[in-house]
Amino acid sequence: MLIQMKDICKKYVLGGEEINALKDVSLEVQKGEMVAIIGPSGSGKSTLMNILGCLDVPDSGTYILDNLLMDTARENELAVIRNQKIGFIFQQFNLLNKLTALQNVELPLIYRGIPAKERLQRSMGALKKVGVANRKDHLPNELSGGQQQRVAIARALAGNPPIILADEPTGALDTKTSQEVMTLLKELNEQQGHTIILITHDNQVAELASRILRIRDGKITEVGVRND
Ligand SMILES: Nc1ncnc2c1ncn2[C@@H]1O[C@H](COP(=O)(O)OP(=O)(O)OP(=O)(O)O)[C@@H](O)[C@H]1O
Ligand SMILES: [Mg+2]
Repeated sequence: MLIQMKDICKKYVLGGEEINALKDVSLEVQKGEMVAIIGPSGSGKSTLMNILGCLDVPDSGTYILDNLLMDTARENELAVIRNQKIGFIFQQFNLLNKLTALQNVELPLIYRGIPAKERLQRSMGALKKVGVANRKDHLPNELSGGQQQRVAIARALAGNPPIILADEPTGALDTKTSQEVMTLLKELNEQQGHTIILITHDNQVAELASRILRIRDGKITEVGVRND
């Protein structure tokens, strides 16, 4: 078991109004799964993703990530766990504009203190895996949207984290490119064994996952498992 969440609650208070963004969410993800979390705008998807990704902490409940109890982890420990355990993929790619594709992929490895030679090897390996090694010296604005997302996926993969979290990874892409990126994620899951959790509001995207969780008003309401 890679992820175990039990009775996670998260509430925001804004201008005297309380918003229960997550209500007693329990969730388990096994190593090697590809899980889609689908739900309408405002249902709590990003809130859940932020907690899964150790970018935020819940008000109550327990979260065990790769056998580590996250409740007790302090801010600086969370940053280390985040860097080692999780690769993030975002809707807007979040690449640094002044760095080349290769430099963007290398960056998280620099933070980890990985020596230059190994860094280059791993980063080139990741770029090859996602099919954009021939664009390594391009800046983000010299790449297509699909290529930028591939570079972002390579960046998430380079550190070889046990978990990849993707928040609307195809949200900024056209239908065809979106299918290509989803095919790539599916391959990474099936052939390389990466555990992937992705958020989407697109049913077609969710269909590619091995399991679908639906979230509505902060509650996980339905779990669909594929039979094939
Ligand atoms: N920092 C915050 N302060 C106050 N309320 C917040 C905050 N962040 C989110 N919320 C509220 O919590 C609820 C869940 O928000 P969340 O961002 O998790 O939704 P979402 O499912 O990701 O939506 P979308 O599909 O639009 O991205 C919403 O009602 C939102 O208005
Ligand atoms: Mg969101």
